[in-house]
Amino acid sequence: MTSTLGIAVIGTGRMGTDHVRRIGRTVGGARVVAVADPDGDRVKEAVAGLEGVSAHTDAAAAMAAPGVGAVLIASPGPAHEEALLHALALELPVLCEKPLTPDPAGALRVLEAELRLGRKLVQVGFMRRFDAEYEGLRGLLDAGGIGRPLFLHCRHRNAASPSFFTNDMLISDSVVHEVDAARWLLGQEITAVTVLSPAPSAAAPQGLSDPRFVLLETSGGAIVDVEIFVNCGFGYQVQCEAVGEAGSARIGDGHAMVVQTRGRWGGEIAQDFLTRFADAYDRQVRRWVAAAARGRIDGPDVWDGYAAAAVSEAGLAAARSGTRTPVELVERPALYH
Ligand SMILES: NC(=O)c1ccc[n+]([C@@H]2O[C@H](COP(=O)([O-])OP(=O)(O)OC[C@H]3O[C@@H](n4cnc5c(N)ncnc54)[C@H](O)[C@@H]3O)[C@@H](O)[C@H]2O)c1
Repeated sequence: MTSTLGIAVIGTGRMGTDHVRRIGRTVGGARVVAVADPDGDRVKEAVAGLEGVSAHTDAAAAMAAPGVGAVLIASPGPAHEEALLHALALELPVLCEKPLTPDPAGALRVLEAELRLGRKLVQVGFMRRFDAEYEGLRGLLDAGGIGRPLFLHCRHRNAASPSFFTNDMLISDSVVHEVDAARWLLGQEITAVTVLSPAPSAAAPQGLSDPRFVLLETSGGAIVDVEIFVNCGFGYQVQCEAVGEAGSARIGDGHAMVVQTRGRWGGEIAQDFLTRFADAYDRQVRRWVAAAARGRIDGPDVWDGYAAAAVSEAGLAAARSGTRTPVELVERPALYH
């Protein structure tokens, strides 16, 4: 017997609306049955034209709607903890957009709630793990294809930052992707963070210290550097070069079609993450749906979300103090080994 997993989507902004469309179009075995957003107009817009979806302004009401068997959280980071704890109390499988929580204290409260249940129900939306290029790089590193990794050189650029973007979000919302990718690619924890801030770009909104250069040290002795530049102007670009003892490998150059004409050559640069990572979001949600239907997860877990939040906290302290700041982690519980 096949059954369809009913999903409640919490937060219907840019990501939530994209996930609602994705579940309707490209993900089999699931359908959105309820959505919630405190912005009543937005929530109505998100479900316009969809049948059998109830619209709520309260997350708990959406999770209590008939037919809900799993929850996708796409509200802003500071709202995640409350929704996560509520979903865990209902024992519903969850896909939570990154960051799990902006701070490690909140992430630990989620971790403790999951530990009390004794099984993993929460997957974190670090979707780069589902991107074909990142998977290829991880496979190469795991197979020892370039020897022991020494460096990851990462670039994370957005054309322009949204009006609500803050200096803290540069670290806890943007660099957090590289933090998870580095932990996953290397199979190591991040142990210390240093943040350097050049004179801000003239294109950066007043008060935003953009770009920044973030140095991460890892438990295996590798160094990860991240250029974060969220007002670069020309497009959305995420690149990573791994340098090992026996070679190097690069992803994210975006070599789709190359056009040569009138004495010049070139190609297109994606303008946003929804385009660049469209396939990764699709694969992430498909695999989560398949796992959630069995009460499981299939991707980054609460420990990954907690570890990333701990690195963000150290990163925020490093940015304020201008000094190298160690990352503090609690002991990893057996559930997450
Ligand atoms: N994986 C990725 O590549 C990626 C990219 C962008 C954003 N994100 C993450 O997705 C999440 C949402 O980001 P966004 O860009 O869609 O933001 P957004 O501002 O476009 O949308 C957020 C929505 O959540 C609503 N909201 C606020 N408080 C809420 C609450 N308590 N309950 C339910 N809804 C609430 C807001 O009204 C808004 O409609 C964030 O965690 C963000 O970091 C992930």
